[in-house]
Formats: sequence, structure tokens, C-alpha cells
Amino acid sequence: MRMLSVLVSLATLFSSLFLGAFAVQGQSASRPYVLQQNWGAYAPYFPLEEYIASPQGCEITQVNILQRHGARYPTSGPGADIASAVSKLQDVTTYNDSSLDFIRNFTFNLGTNGDLVLYGAAQSLAAGAEAYYRYKNLISQDNIPFVRASSSERVVNSATNWTYGFSAASSLTFNPVLSVILSESANDTLENSCNDIGSSDNETDTWIDIYTQPIVARLNGAAPGANLTSTDAYNLMTLCAFESVATQAVSEWCALFNEDEWESFEYEMDLEKYYGTGYGQALGPVEGVGYINELIARLTSTPVNDTTQTNHTLDHSPLTFPLNRTVYADFSHDDQMIAIFSAMGLFKQPSVLDPTKPNASRTWVASQLVPFSARMVVEKMDCQLSTGHVSDSDSYIRILVNEAVQSLEFCSGVTAEGLCAVERFVESQVFATSGGDGDWAKCFA
Ligand SMILES: *[C@@H]1O[C@H](CO)[C@@H](O)[C@H](O)[C@H]1NC(C)=O
Ligand SMILES: *[C@@H]1O[C@H](CO)[C@@H](O)[C@H](O)[C@H]1NC(C)=O
Ligand SMILES: *[C@@H]1O[C@H](CO)[C@@H](O)[C@H](O)[C@H]1NC(C)=O
Ligand SMILES: *[C@@H]1O[C@H](CO)[C@@H](O)[C@H](O)[C@H]1NC(C)=O
Ligand SMILES: *[C@@H]1O[C@H](CO)[C@@H](O)[C@H](O)[C@H]1NC(C)=O
Ligand SMILES: *[C@@H]1O[C@H](CO)[C@@H](O)[C@H](O)[C@H]1NC(C)=O
Ligand SMILES: *[C@@H]1O[C@H](CO)[C@@H](O)[C@H](O)[C@H]1NC(C)=O
Ligand SMILES: *[C@@H]1O[C@H](CO)[C@@H](O)[C@H](O)[C@H]1NC(C)=O
Ligand SMILES: *[C@@H]1O[C@H](CO)[C@@H](O)[C@H](O)[C@H]1NC(C)=O
Ligand SMILES: *[C@@H]1O[C@H](CO)[C@@H](O)[C@H](O)[C@H]1NC(C)=O
Repeated sequence: MRMLSVLVSLATLFSSLFLGAFAVQGQSASRPYVLQQNWGAYAPYFPLEEYIASPQGCEITQVNILQRHGARYPTSGPGADIASAVSKLQDVTTYNDSSLDFIRNFTFNLGTNGDLVLYGAAQSLAAGAEAYYRYKNLISQDNIPFVRASSSERVVNSATNWTYGFSAASSLTFNPVLSVILSESANDTLENSCNDIGSSDNETDTWIDIYTQPIVARLNGAAPGANLTSTDAYNLMTLCAFESVATQAVSEWCALFNEDEWESFEYEMDLEKYYGTGYGQALGPVEGVGYINELIARLTSTPVNDTTQTNHTLDHSPLTFPLNRTVYADFSHDDQMIAIFSAMGLFKQPSVLDPTKPNASRTWVASQLVPFSARMVVEKMDCQLSTGHVSDSDSYIRILVNEAVQSLEFCSGVTAEGLCAVERFVESQVFATSGGDGDWAKCFA
């Protein structure tokens, strides 16, 4: 128990100090500049708004949580790229700008296997505790959360830290376990599984070449002979994010870049997600179909009907895919959550993102969609809506992404509070219920 309170207070402390500026939540149009909220998918979790209780007259009956693993070290490829950029700077004999002096003594010793950092584990644990406090009325001894994870170690560890946080918050009264681990070497509703998917490299390289020009000129001027490239500049910016979440203090690398450059860095991540598995990738959204069909099965208490990523053996057994629980929690990855958002119709943009120029009004911002420990929560509720204009049904859902209630324009009759009748939601999901409109076959052509 002492370990739990230490970790929860770690998560809270870092949120209020290093991760700062929670006073400024809820202004999605023009959010004030906060350094770590420009780190795209490497941003540590921050809620976009304060959680709003369910609308008056509604009672939550089921909760589906889809959560990204917590903050992590770099994975091996990017880790090697960072090390290479650092060593180019360290090979320079004399810097002519003292802001680089710290590099001389810098040692790049972050883990490079994508493992969770302590802060990432703490945020997962805090999320489990928060889920208990928020939804404890739905929990009983024979109805505890049903938990699944994709098989990467960091995803599994995020899931078990979440269950630990949930259990500890209930004073060990309710002890969910990780029941199903979906193999990433098979088709997997919690990880990308499309063989022939395209890449976002063209778009991200285009933008990196544009926005890093002044950075490359400045750093090569300050470190004569380093010969940093655009890609090196980008990798050094990722080092700021990785070192900060690993040490829970703002890395010295961060100060080498200004606010505009961090906003440009964010845009690189926005493009990477949009063209990687989002709306800008022809075979991106289809990767999210299996999860949406699983969600529909839970919302409607009917067996999973899917021809894409679902594992039929697992999904047709009540032991590995029960339909009678009230809280479900699934642990996944950023690219997969992006595919699910895009298959569902969330965060649709009026026009495609331009790889040469950010649109300041865009609502596709990776740090707000899929930061570390990002979460999408689908709350099902029974409502007595006095107006009665919505539909003849009294079962609704609303969807929160990082606490922000989504407006669900794709749902016919959606209310101003984001309530969508379950039947209308299912009707809106033809891309998923049709098995991806033929796209899944294109993944294995
Ligand atoms: C680097 O380390 C050396 C030896 O510990 C120390 O004398 C020097 O001040 C350090 N340089 C910087 C810029 O911190
Ligand atoms: C769900 O159904 C299973 C049998 O399939 C049963 O053992 C279990 O108690 C049920 N759980 C709830 C919460 O109703
Ligand atoms: C939480 O995650 C950390 C880091 O990956 C791991 O070492 C630890 O075993 C996890 N804790 C639990 C209770 O799963
Ligand atoms: C995933 O499913 C497709 C077709 O449904 C199949 O061709 C492919 O081999 C499967 N992938 C794996 C890794 O089993
Ligand atoms: C790469 O991106 C540029 C800029 O958006 C675009 O003009 C070009 O057609 C793209 N090339 C390919 C092969 O997709
Ligand atoms: C640093 O060195 C570069 C190349 O040698 C030079 O162009 C630049 O003016 C120098 N900057 C300072 C601040 O001395
Ligand atoms: C940088 O490029 C110059 C000219 O191309 C070359 O002479 C020098 O060796 C390179 N420096 C490093 C550190 O690679
Ligand atoms: C479904 O999951 C089971 C249990 O993990 C596994 O043994 C089986 O190979 C999976 N089936 C497919 C088609 O991937
Ligand atoms: C910029 O984004 C806003 C909000 O999504 C949109 O209304 C506008 O049309 C976009 N502008 C361009 C040039 O794409
Ligand atoms: C499953 O979905 C297909 C469409 O993909 C539909 O034709 C079929 O009727 C559905 N089956 C059931 C049992 O609902």
C-alpha cells in the first residue's frame, strides 16, 4: 500500500510540477504553450478537460476503456539514431556557443527497448485508481473489470500497473487481473495488423526538411564540423522528450529549441499519425475495425461479428470475451488507437493535412489524441431524456478522449452533450460492420 501511495503521488507531483500548467485545461481552440504538450505521441498524458459527470437523467451502465501504454524509453531504431546525432555533436572539438557545453559531459544512457519508464508505470497505476474511484458503483465481487492487453511488454506492464492501481484504490477489495494477452505476431485488435499498409515517411520527411532548416543552421554554426542533418535535428528533439519522461525533469536538450520549433515538432507527429494509420493512410482505418466490432458486441450484448483482426476462438468464448461485465479495459498502442479513431469517425478533418504547412486551427494534434497513457472511454448509459426527440431507445453512449467529450457528428440525433443512442451508433459504424468495406483484403494482396 505504501508503494501505491508513493507512485500515485509521484504521478500527481510530476503532473503539477514538471508536467505543469494544469490550470489551463479545457481551451482546445488555442491552448497556451506548454513545452511537453508539443511532444506529439511522446507527450506524457494530460487531461484535455476536467471530467464531466454523466448528464442529468442518465446512469452509466457499462464502461469500455481503451488505453495506450505509459511513457517509455526510446525503441531500438530511434535510440540508435539519437545516439548517432549526439555523438556527432560530441566529436566537435570546440563549441562557439556555451549553451552546448552540457553536451560535452552528456551520457546517453536511456534504455532503448521501449520499456516503460517509472513515470509511465505511475501514470498507468494512477489511471487504474482513477477508474476505480469513478466507476466503483458498477463494480461488485462477481463483476470486476475484464482486462486485455496486446503482447508487447510495455503494454502488458501498463495493464498490470492499471489493475494494481485499481485494486489498491479499492483497498484490495476488487482485484482485476489481466485475463487475455493478444499476440502481436497474429492478427490483433489492439495492434496494427495490416501487412501492406503504406508509410507516412514522405509526408514527415517533407515537413522535417522544411522546419529543421534554421535548427540545422544554428546547431552546425554552434558546433562547427558536426554536420548535423535535418533528421539529426529531429532526433535530438525526441531526446528532450525521452530524457524528460525518464528523469521527470526537463532535459537540458529541450532548451536548444524555441517554442515555434516545438510547435513544428508536434506537427511532424500529427503528420506521422495522420498518414501512418489515420485518415491520410488508405489502409490505416481498417486496422481499427476489429476493435470497433468488439465494442459493438459489448454495447449490444451480442456475439462479435467480425471478419478482420478478431481471434474467433478467443472472442467466441465467455472466458476470454465475456459480454456480461460492466467495465472493460484494453491496453494498446498509439498507432492502433489512431486507426480505431479513424475507423470510427473521430477527429475527422475537413481537408487533408498539408505536409508543407500546418493549419493552426486543426483538431488533429497527436499530443491531444495519443499521448503516453492516452485513453478513449466509451460510457454506456441509460437515460430518461425528457425531450424525447433523440430516438425511441433509452440506451446511449458518450465517448471521452483524454477526458474531452467528443461531439460524434457521425451519429444521427447526437445531443449537445455528446449522447448518441446505441442503435444510432451501431448504424453509424458501417465501415466496421461491413468488415472494412473491402480494405482488409487489400492488406494481404
Ligand atoms: C564536465 O565534467 C568535468 C569533469 O567532471 C568538469 O570539470 C566540467 O566542469 C564539466 N563541464 C560542464 C560543462 O559541465
Ligand atoms: C457472466 O457469465 C458467466 C457465465 O458465462 C458467469 O459465470 C458469471 O457469473 C457472469 N458474470 C456476471 C457479472 O454476470
Ligand atoms: C509496473 O511497470 C513496471 C515498469 O515496466 C514494472 O516493472 C512493474 O512490474 C509493473 N508493476 C506491476 C504491479 O505490474
Ligand atoms: C491475418 O489475417 C489475414 C486474412 O484474414 C491473413 O491473410 C493473415 O495471414 C493473418 N495474419 C497473421 C499474422 O496471421
Ligand atoms: C510526397 O509528398 C509530396 C508533398 O506532399 C507530394 O507532392 C508527393 O506527391 C508525395 N509523393 C509520393 C510518392 O507520395
Ligand atoms: C560559430 O562558428 C561558426 C562556424 O565556424 C561561425 O559561422 C559562427 O559565426 C560562430 N558563432 C559564434 C557565436 O561565434
Ligand atoms: C563534415 O563535412 C565536412 C565537409 O563535407 C568534412 O570535411 C568533415 O569531415 C565532416 N565532419 C564530420 C564530423 O563528419
Ligand atoms: C487465437 O488465440 C489463441 C490463444 O492465444 C491462439 O492459440 C491462436 O493461434 C489464435 N488464432 C489465430 C488465428 O491467430
Ligand atoms: C484549417 O482547419 C480548420 C478547422 O478544421 C478548417 O475549418 C479550415 O478549412 C482549414 N483550412 C485549410 C486551409 O485547410
Ligand atoms: C454479420 O455481419 C454481416 C455483415 O458484415 C451481416 O451480413 C450478418 O448478417 C451479420 N451476422 C449477424 C449474426 O448479425
